[in-house]
Amino acid sequence: MSRQLFVTTALPYANGNFHIGHIMEYIQADTWVRHQRMQGSTVHFVCADDAHGAPIMIAAEKAGKTPQQFVADIAAGRKPYLDGFHISFDNWHSTDAPENHELAQDIYRALKANDLISTRTIEQFYDPQKAMFLPDRFIKGECPKCGTQDQYGDNCESCGAVYSPTDLKNPYSALSGATPELRKSEHYFFKLSDPRCVAFLEGWTADGNHLQTEVYNKIKEWLIPKEDGQRDLGDWDISRDAPYFGIEIPDAPGKYFYVWLDAPIGYLASLKNLFIKQHGAVAGAQAFETFLADPATEQVHFIGKDIITFHTLFWPAMLHFSGRKTPNVVHVHGFLTINSGEKMSKSRGTGLDPLKYLSLGMNPEWLRYYLATKLNARNEDVEFSPEDFMARVNSDLVGKFINIASRAAGFITKRFDGKLGGTSAHGAGVLDILRQQRDSIRDAFEAREFARALRETMLLADRVNEYVDQNKPWELAKQAGMDAHLQDVCTVCIEAFRLLTIYLKPVLPALAQQVESFLKIEPLRWSDADQSLGAGHVIGNYQHLMQRVDAKQLEALFEPPALSEPAQDAPEIAATRAMPPGSAPGGEAIAPTIGIEDFAKIDLRIARIVNCEAVPGSTKLLRLTLDVGEDHADGSPKTRNVFSGIASCYQPQDLIGKYTVLVANLAPRKMKFGLSEGMVLAASHGDEKAKPGIYVLEPSPGAQPGMRVR
Ligand code: MSP
Ligand code: ZN
Repeated sequence: MSRQLFVTTALPYANGNFHIGHIMEYIQADTWVRHQRMQGSTVHFVCADDAHGAPIMIAAEKAGKTPQQFVADIAAGRKPYLDGFHISFDNWHSTDAPENHELAQDIYRALKANDLISTRTIEQFYDPQKAMFLPDRFIKGECPKCGTQDQYGDNCESCGAVYSPTDLKNPYSALSGATPELRKSEHYFFKLSDPRCVAFLEGWTADGNHLQTEVYNKIKEWLIPKEDGQRDLGDWDISRDAPYFGIEIPDAPGKYFYVWLDAPIGYLASLKNLFIKQHGAVAGAQAFETFLADPATEQVHFIGKDIITFHTLFWPAMLHFSGRKTPNVVHVHGFLTINSGEKMSKSRGTGLDPLKYLSLGMNPEWLRYYLATKLNARNEDVEFSPEDFMARVNSDLVGKFINIASRAAGFITKRFDGKLGGTSAHGAGVLDILRQQRDSIRDAFEAREFARALRETMLLADRVNEYVDQNKPWELAKQAGMDAHLQDVCTVCIEAFRLLTIYLKPVLPALAQQVESFLKIEPLRWSDADQSLGAGHVIGNYQHLMQRVDAKQLEALFEPPALSEPAQDAPEIAATRAMPPGSAPGGEAIAPTIGIEDFAKIDLRIARIVNCEAVPGSTKLLRLTLDVGEDHADGSPKTRNVFSGIASCYQPQDLIGKYTVLVANLAPRKMKFGLSEGMVLAASHGDEKAKPGIYVLEPSPGAQPGMRVR
């Protein structure tokens, strides 16, 4: 049955390149989409950059760009990843595009007309220096429970307490270091606590088709009234005050939609843009609305487990109460972890760099295959283990599947001019077994049980290899009068290889294409499993279809980036620089010679002094809060706490806003006053008593936090 599908993956924040977690999500969705296309269904598969929000605005400012330029630069880097891993999106758009502005405003107006928007004045921290309201993540201070310094506005990383920013002691802005003020502001709310919304969401989430069971069990907690009669699902604050990179709220000057309001609408905007590209502005807009409202259109979202509430509560409610169709399926996957559960940083995705993978010449379909062997329909984390990766690819994909073609094709070409023969009953029986499994494998793909689909396919490959081992074509080839039998056995192998290629095509699209040209056939569809190539069909020359993974490639993949190129002439240079004995510039002799590789071990970074304060109880130390360009998992800036023995020479306020150099990879040190996470560089004479004075290093203007000093 030909279906009509609208499929999306979560829109990645446009504040960084893709990491391997994104690629996993795209591979999962792409595999499902390719499966659908092979069934003859029409699929519109789209994504976009999630452009808006405070973190991106702030990152752009740091980079000295407009947010639009910043986002455009990120978008420009997307293609090598998507092409590289064969992700077949039909469109890539941006939530800052005109289609999204218009759709978000339309949806908002409809919600408002439905009496589901309210306003309320709330008190919020305001950074007087930056002249902006601060998102929770940009306010820091002392934990109200345990007193740990430099904790975020929403929770304490030390004792785990959860609170609101106004509970923090001695709060400061992570942006400027200024003490924030409480200011009142009118905010707009989507009235999710309205009985109509609650009733709708109870029904929508409980309808067994939309959500996985474990997702439903988690989300229904939001809808159950607690002892005090309140539900976790309260009204949703959907506005932010200027300055904000976002979409203006109609008839509300200076107010913008919170990024999560317009982000999922970006799914629709990207689809609309696709229709406009295909049919022109007017017809395209019309076709988009018709397609979206058509009861036959199935809307399917693939997302990760961290953004469930947005997609299973807020988003369906937004759509429903603005008079639109709601999603048919929200499919949630777990997180990719690398090397036994080590939590992968969401923003940096440490561990496996997708572009590095490609640049090492590693086959993208190895990764597609490996991930598919691990993916199922449940919200479970997926572990990437290099050993397992190598085993699955080398023994199963290459050893079992590719091997079938390489064992048979040569004989067909050399002995029979590429011509296939007939298949005897025994061989036909093997092919029948392969065909009988067809629907089961299809159902597994349909249910997003990719691991099962591949398991079943590989069991079939085992059957074919058994058949080859029983019939030993390499021996038949040496025996006189066995030509017909040899052709029969090799034909069975080629026919079987074609069937297995059909079953693997959603996962291995490029390989399938190579097979199609080797077999001289049209692009394979699922229904082609009914047919055979048949006696007399002439195949092309076999060229090896896939290499095995080399352990060296995996080693290189996980090797940390080279710190610095060792200078080739290092020994000579070191020799000429050696000082005569007894010379003591600055009051001390030059330390023993080191090689460039020793120096490269020290990671020096430009740091901005966000805050600086005296340390009560210490006459020597100042406490510095440093911005080294690092981010937290959610993209909010992360700062470091460093104690420095410079109190005798500097007033704290003189250092705030200045730049300096930090030893960024020094092991953190626990001090009486707290943890010191690095060391700032300062000059002083070897004889401190005779020549006092400490001079903190400052880079030339233009150096940005995070830049390496080498
Ligand atoms: N911008 C929001 C989504 C808006 S959708 C209207 C966002 N962006 S994200 O870049 O942080 O994440 C994009 C997708 O990648 C999410 O589905 C997220 O769950 C997924 N992943 C992020 N890290 C991941 C792993 N380590 N593993 C698998 N998927 C992960 O959230
Ligand atoms: Zn605490």
